[in-house]
Amino acid sequence: MKVLVIGGGGREHAIVRALARSDHAPDLLCAPGNPGIAADAELLDIGVDDVGGIVAAAREREVDLVVVGPEAPLVAGVVDALGEAGIAAFGPSAEAARLEGSKVYAKEAMAEAGVPTAGHEVVTSREDALAHLASCDYPVVLKADGLAAGKGVIIAADEAEAHEAVEAFFTEQRFGETSVLIEEHMVGEELSMLAICDGENVVPLAPAQDYKRIFDGDEGPNTGGMGSYSPVPGVTADDVSRIVSEVHEPIVRLMAGRGIPFHGVLYAGLMMTADGPRVLEFNCRFGDPETQAVLPRMRSDLLDLCLAAGKRGGLAGVEAEFSPEWAVTLVLASAGYPESSSKGDVISGLAAAAATGAEITHAGTAEIDGEIVTAGGRVLNVTALGSGADVARRRAYDAADEISFDGRQIRTDIAARAVERAGG
Ligand code: AMP
Ligand code: GLY
Repeated sequence: MKVLVIGGGGREHAIVRALARSDHAPDLLCAPGNPGIAADAELLDIGVDDVGGIVAAAREREVDLVVVGPEAPLVAGVVDALGEAGIAAFGPSAEAARLEGSKVYAKEAMAEAGVPTAGHEVVTSREDALAHLASCDYPVVLKADGLAAGKGVIIAADEAEAHEAVEAFFTEQRFGETSVLIEEHMVGEELSMLAICDGENVVPLAPAQDYKRIFDGDEGPNTGGMGSYSPVPGVTADDVSRIVSEVHEPIVRLMAGRGIPFHGVLYAGLMMTADGPRVLEFNCRFGDPETQAVLPRMRSDLLDLCLAAGKRGGLAGVEAEFSPEWAVTLVLASAGYPESSSKGDVISGLAAAAATGAEITHAGTAEIDGEIVTAGGRVLNVTALGSGADVARRRAYDAADEISFDGRQIRTDIAARAVERAGG
């Protein structure tokens, strides 16, 4: 079997590694990939947004399945285009991907399906926004409607900060937005619940938590994610069942009823509030960096799950199995991230880090004259497994300590709370 993975980050490297563990022993291709992925898959020089190029390559290489990592090609319709060419793909259609592509669409779907989420108002002009903000409780959350790579959310502590956000959205058009959500601020622990869906059935993956801020103690600006871990202390199997039946299943039923069956990963970003789990957002793909912690724990065959998800009802009676071990993923980022990203800094210690048994996945690296150098904001992920949160955490930090490059940024508190809450 031949599988093509679309993307070139740490998430895609983790997907490639998990597919390599499949009993089908597939031939693996990745477009565009990165120098780390090159050790595990043949790279194709095609950008993630080049839908025509992806379809042509999948046809020419007689690929049996395309697994799409990032959201942009999904929202752009890569799965639809592959389907028209008769090529199987893992991921939702463009219509179904609107659950991530438009926050207004997602809110309407949640209201119709009765899924708990933050109260909100949609505003479409600066004047409407200012009028609504005069009568809000603070803090309040302002969100761009469309894809903004995690940067379109502003939490305003007071009306003055909210006004600044309104100017960024409507006057500066920082996200090119015409619709903005003004949303109730929720309080609680965040949880990422990913599930694989076949248009009808929902197969939950292990719960995970990620870290969005750049600095220790959740300080500083939002990033693409600075670390993650799985499982999550205090989230029981019953909690997972409740979330699936209150969140994922109603959405999957609603979409099926609309004639837009959801195939692929439905990722619910949740706030565990005092009133129960409530949805922050939906994503229509694997999370980054949650995937780097979740997939190394997975005992089920990822390729079988991806193939079954493409067939309506293909996942009936299927459960995903996970090792009871803990996984902790650390992100090593380049100097200046997230505002800017330093490139070309030589990375040393990769072999020593891998020799500790940790899984090193590449996110933003390049190879120049045989040396691996930094090439982006988030550079590397280090994932370690262990019988307890404390063991996994210590192994991950020991492995990361082996790796050095100029300006390396790493949070020192990833999974620290999990260790406390899990009692070691
Ligand atoms: P989103 O892209 O919608 O997940 O938002 C990014 C991050 O902003 C979330 O992971 C939360 O940390 C925070 N956030 C978003 N919406 C809310 C909300 N309604 N209440 C509190 N925090 C929020
Ligand atoms: N970890 C957040 C995301 O993948 O969107």
